[in-house]
Amino acid sequence: MPSLWTDGRLENPTPAGVIDDVNTADVVVVGAGITGLTTAALLARAGKKVVVVEARHVGAATTGNTTGKVSALQGSKLANIAQKHGADRLRAYVTGNTEGREWLLRHCDEHGLSYQREDDHAYAQNEKGLSTARSVLSACKEAGLDAQWVDEADVPFPFAGGVRLREQAQFDPIPYLSSLVAELEKHGGTLLQGVRATTVSGTGPLRVSLRRTAEAQDTRDAQHTVTAQRVVLATGTPVLDRGFFFARMEAKRSYCLAFDVPGDITRSMYLSVDSPTRSVRYAPTPTGDKLIVGGAGHTVGRADHPKNAVTELARWAALHYPGAVQTHYWSAQDYHPIDELPYVGPLLPKFENLLVATGFDKWGMTNGVAAALALSSRILGGRMDWAAAFASWSPHELSGIPTALQLNMQVGLHLAKGWVAPLTASGEPEEGQGIVSGAPWRMTATSVVDGVTRTVSPVCPHLGGVVTWNDSDLAWECPLHGSRFAPDGALIEGPATRGLTPSQ
Ligand SMILES: Cc1cc2nc3c(=O)[nH]c(=O)nc-3n(C[C@H](O)[C@H](O)[C@H](O)COP(=O)(O)OP(=O)(O)OC[C@H]3O[C@@H](n4cnc5c(N)ncnc54)[C@H](O)[C@@H]3O)c2cc1C
Ligand code: FES
Repeated sequence: MPSLWTDGRLENPTPAGVIDDVNTADVVVVGAGITGLTTAALLARAGKKVVVVEARHVGAATTGNTTGKVSALQGSKLANIAQKHGADRLRAYVTGNTEGREWLLRHCDEHGLSYQREDDHAYAQNEKGLSTARSVLSACKEAGLDAQWVDEADVPFPFAGGVRLREQAQFDPIPYLSSLVAELEKHGGTLLQGVRATTVSGTGPLRVSLRRTAEAQDTRDAQHTVTAQRVVLATGTPVLDRGFFFARMEAKRSYCLAFDVPGDITRSMYLSVDSPTRSVRYAPTPTGDKLIVGGAGHTVGRADHPKNAVTELARWAALHYPGAVQTHYWSAQDYHPIDELPYVGPLLPKFENLLVATGFDKWGMTNGVAAALALSSRILGGRMDWAAAFASWSPHELSGIPTALQLNMQVGLHLAKGWVAPLTASGEPEEGQGIVSGAPWRMTATSVVDGVTRTVSPVCPHLGGVVTWNDSDLAWECPLHGSRFAPDGALIEGPATRGLTPSQ
């Protein structure tokens, strides 16, 4: 189901003839989400010849399926950074995010795009969450943010106290992305949609191999190559394994629901710092304001029945907003970095012509723009003082080593479990379900969606994880590094660059 933002706004793939005419660029940006398009527009504005390559369509992955809060408060994120990195790096992170927020809002003002200035809250749902909320307040003070403690709020759901940061913002990300595409094209740049980058090779000028996404999923054969001085991977998790970013982050999926609500809708933005996570905002639409609630998060591929948590989220909304009628359901994933700070810079240390931006931990509306500012100034020869907090390779990552070891141990366990558990599974899945079964040498993944049974190989083409079924999204998910596939095996997202093999 499309998100509230992408509903009715999908775009068409670029025709093959147009792709064939694109052969060189100063910079190829891979990925047309907020990070890729902001970077591309900034570089095109500065006179670079920019080509953006997008596997699906503008905003197809996380940006088009976000909640759209543009805030420096960010739930318990600042407290986590303060604990791991101390005040200086926290301040640099907050400065980068504040600049990202201000750049985005200025762009909206200049292009007549609407957004709403609203207060944001990081709050506790009950007494147990209060100490976390108080640590958020301390982190805000350390970072120089003018946040206040509030004991009460005018909301219909449980609120035990929390932090308020005034004058943050919320918006619809798609008009923002469209305005960046217009700016890119106005400055001579090119957007290729429905085109997947499969490899990047070379050490001087780089060769980016492209294949139309609609073509056969099970081939890495490139149909076309573009040569560029620099390449920016703005693909969520990087699609190249060099740099091992897939092992330095955890893919986290969560869900959003939009409702028509009789009566008043909560005006400011709220995010609980305790579990289960509850995220709340409103969204103006041509037919009136809608309520958006988010939550039900899990590590990709590791939840038994995500649908149960989504049902619980819908029940929570119905309980606190009586008469609410659900109009939209969507979900997305983002990447939690082991040391809490994003990775923005070279994919490999000192290799300046291949750059990456990832690890925004569900705060990419500000971090994605900050990354674009940092990357574009790096390419153009400038420097942002706060960019050290966003480094893709840095000694500060040492603080994440225990988390990395734990994370990769879990990956190992899920790899082993994936190959053994199907031995005991059997039977036909019910409607809306999927089962992986069989001995390791002939395992199959079978799903039934809308009465159609499909069987594919469950082995993830990235590094051999065995997929599990997401019964809320009706998709296969890899529990190792978060690649996702449609019931017919087609690649949706993640570090994999091709789909699951159809079963013979
Ligand atoms: C449920 C949810 C709610 C969120 N809410 C908020 C919020 O309220 N505020 C906030 O600040 N952040 C929020 N976030 C986080 C934010 O949405 C993301 O951090 C941000 O959208 C990431 O943008 P991006 O451009 O880096 O990646 P994406 O938007 O994922 O874009 C990457 C693009 O690359 C393309 N791509 C991938 N591989 C290839 C390839 N090989 N070739 C070509 N193209 C490729 C994809 O199709 C995609 O379009 C939320 C995240 C989630 C999951
Ligand atoms: S995503 Fe890495 S093995 Fe599947």
